[in-house]
Amino acid sequence: MKNILLAVTGGIAAYKAIDLTSKLTQADYEVRVMLTDHAQEFVTPLAFQAIGRNPVYTNTFIEQNPEEIQHVALGDWADAIVVAPATANTIAKLANGIADDMVTSTILATETPKFIAPAMNVHMYENKRTQHNLATLSADGYYFLEPGEGFLACGYVAKGRMEEPLQILERLNQYFNNDLPNKKNSKFKGVHAIVTAGPTIEELDPVRYLSNRSSGKMGYALAESLSKRGAKVTLISGPTHLDAPKNVELIPIESAQQMFEAVKLRFDSTDIVFKSAAVSDYAPAEMLDHKLKKQAGDLTVTFKRTPDILKYLGENKHKQFLVGFAAETQNIETYAQKKLKSKNVDVIIANNVGDRTIGFSSDDNAYTMYYKNGKAVELGKHKKVILAEHILDNLETRWQ
Ligand SMILES: Cc1cc2nc3c(=O)[nH]c(=O)nc-3n(C[C@H](O)[C@H](O)[C@H](O)COP(=O)(O)O)c2cc1C
Repeated sequence: MKNILLAVTGGIAAYKAIDLTSKLTQADYEVRVMLTDHAQEFVTPLAFQAIGRNPVYTNTFIEQNPEEIQHVALGDWADAIVVAPATANTIAKLANGIADDMVTSTILATETPKFIAPAMNVHMYENKRTQHNLATLSADGYYFLEPGEGFLACGYVAKGRMEEPLQILERLNQYFNNDLPNKKNSKFKGVHAIVTAGPTIEELDPVRYLSNRSSGKMGYALAESLSKRGAKVTLISGPTHLDAPKNVELIPIESAQQMFEAVKLRFDSTDIVFKSAAVSDYAPAEMLDHKLKKQAGDLTVTFKRTPDILKYLGENKHKQFLVGFAAETQNIETYAQKKLKSKNVDVIIANNVGDRTIGFSSDDNAYTMYYKNGKAVELGKHKKVILAEHILDNLETRWQ
């Protein structure tokens, strides 16, 4: 029997936590519940005590057993902690290491795996601070029980509803059956990964070049998440405004040709390649030694094809797992499927760059992962740092 510590915080969805306690108990989990002060404005400790048949914890300073420090012992007792519903306030406290009540003190004091089910008004959810805090928690290894879209108590029909108790139960079952990745025992531990990121720039003359809008954010987020999971990461990046993540080897390049050389050099000793850079398909046929002077009439420039890095990797891979990206403005699925086959890639992560609210320079994106075996996994719209976690979580369960 597994022990679940359920942390209930002060959101309108606190009533769902009573149902969750019931479902977990019926599924043979041993459930103990902690409530914040504000949670008790919505639900009573007695309801949880009666359903879970266990003591309920509300105050760090009421020590029920003199032989132990309650908030430390409780965290260690649990096989998993579930924060449901998780308010924006408690999420912010957890992301910043604040421990000023029973819930936050217990969670800060334990290494037990944590699941978090945000529930709040859509603007609170989409607020930059909340998204930043969620990204911090996700990068710290919290499992994210994504809120659904639907009717919210505030009157909006939007994203922010707490994940349904049945779905939470299923995620926990998955976790305990080893179907969900355990980030501490990540498959990426010790693996050598190459991540390509950012744009390339293709020079026409000493002052002009052809480039694109890629910010590099996705690749840098992937490099950071891989490194946190124990991978040895080489980040081969075109010019960006980003700092290299900690413990990641950064190889700065400019042109597609330089990126090709840098990847080729390291490919043999690599286990997995994430090709998230936006590599120019064409470069000016000739790089002029001097600045091109204005002339009468139009200018015609001839472009040559740059090396097709992904194709080269697909043709030359022996053990390597190839993750390609497809940024398209139309027929996304058809193009992704075609690229998967023609370039001998294992997964294509596709997105619509025609939507200016996501993609290139934005912090957000929305991806679908297309696997070689025909499986398609929709990742939805998220901050790129959260998408990086979702991409890796997904690969953890499917990459052999
Ligand atoms: C009627 C009502 C409903 C609320 N619902 C939510 C909610 O769904 N999500 C949320 O993050 N905060 C919600 N709040 C605000 C929180 O209760 C408030 O931020 C509180 O400080 C959270 O405390 P806690 O995180 O310690 O439980 C609500 C407040 C009221 C009065």
